[in-house]
Amino acid sequence: MYARITGTGSYLPPQAVTNHDLVARGIDTSDEWIVERTGIRQRHIADERQSASDLALEASRAALGCAGIAPEKVDLIVVATSTPDYIFPSTACLLQDKLGIKGCAAFDVQAVCSGFAYAMAIAEKFIRSGSHRCALVVGAEVFSRILDWNDRATCVLFGDGAGAVVLEAAETPGILASALHADGSYNEILSVPGNVCGGRVIGSPFLQMDGQAVFKFAVRVLGDVAHEVLQHAHMPQEAVDWLIPHQANIRILQATAKRLGLPMDKVITTVDRHGNTSAASIPLALDVAVRDGRIKRGDNLLLEGVGGGFTWGAVLVKF
Ligand code: UT7
Repeated sequence: MYARITGTGSYLPPQAVTNHDLVARGIDTSDEWIVERTGIRQRHIADERQSASDLALEASRAALGCAGIAPEKVDLIVVATSTPDYIFPSTACLLQDKLGIKGCAAFDVQAVCSGFAYAMAIAEKFIRSGSHRCALVVGAEVFSRILDWNDRATCVLFGDGAGAVVLEAAETPGILASALHADGSYNEILSVPGNVCGGRVIGSPFLQMDGQAVFKFAVRVLGDVAHEVLQHAHMPQEAVDWLIPHQANIRILQATAKRLGLPMDKVITTVDRHGNTSAASIPLALDVAVRDGRIKRGDNLLLEGVGGGFTWGAVLVKF
């Protein structure tokens, strides 16, 4: 038994905020700096009444519609998020309720920007074991809630959004290989080092990052893990039709493509329009390219992410 993607969907909150808008709001930055260093031109920001599960709901409905699946057929929900609605219950349980279904397994995965790669690899193992047949795998984030808008080094980088796929049991692949990794000794280079205790925030509720350390780490591990899954699947890198990396910075995407010997026209790029949407960025980019007709049935897709933890992972897919 294999696991195949049978539908994709995504959702962006309507409010698009350009680099010029950030300057107009008083942030000490410029469109030139942000575009040159990151490739980002705009990001979407959720309304304060919209939570991660609301974004996840819209993306999930689109993915289920694409797959032609009724919500009742879903027997597993995995939501990758670092910006959940609540400490608990999980965003996956809230999504299940909003979808109007009951009973199926539902849980969140916390691997920050690698979350979607983790969630896909986990859901695939449920399906391949034969215990589950139809998984809804979602990445949903409202990173705007954990940004310090006085820290220009981080607040210009991130956006909100959600992406989802339906993963179903199938007799042909499917997911060809996956690899997941973490190195917790790097926990301090990208973190939100806070918690709630006795009604107070202990530590910081805002994202902190050593940008250059993250950059170097990301380029190294994204190249390594891509080679690892290609080796698992005995696939030469030339056979990759589309690279769909976590969308953090256009320069990281370019460096990764170069290491893999792939031209940039084989790399799905949404960072210019979405910014970094953490766990949502891979499924958002996937859905954009499926819907605009670039990604076709039978294409080989290499999905890969890297993020806080530090975590990293890749999933090789026959679409
Ligand atoms: O999802 C995974 C997590 N994130 C990432 O993958 C991000 C990885 N890192 C990066 O993308 C880059 O390191 C950044 C985009 C965050 C920063 O780019 P950089 O080329 O590493 O710049 P820098 O941090 O070395 O800063 C260069 C200069 C500094 O000024 P001085 O000290 O040279 O005078 C900063 O203060 O740019 C300044 N700067 C800014 N200037 C205008 C930092 N942020 C801004 C800003 N606007 N928003």
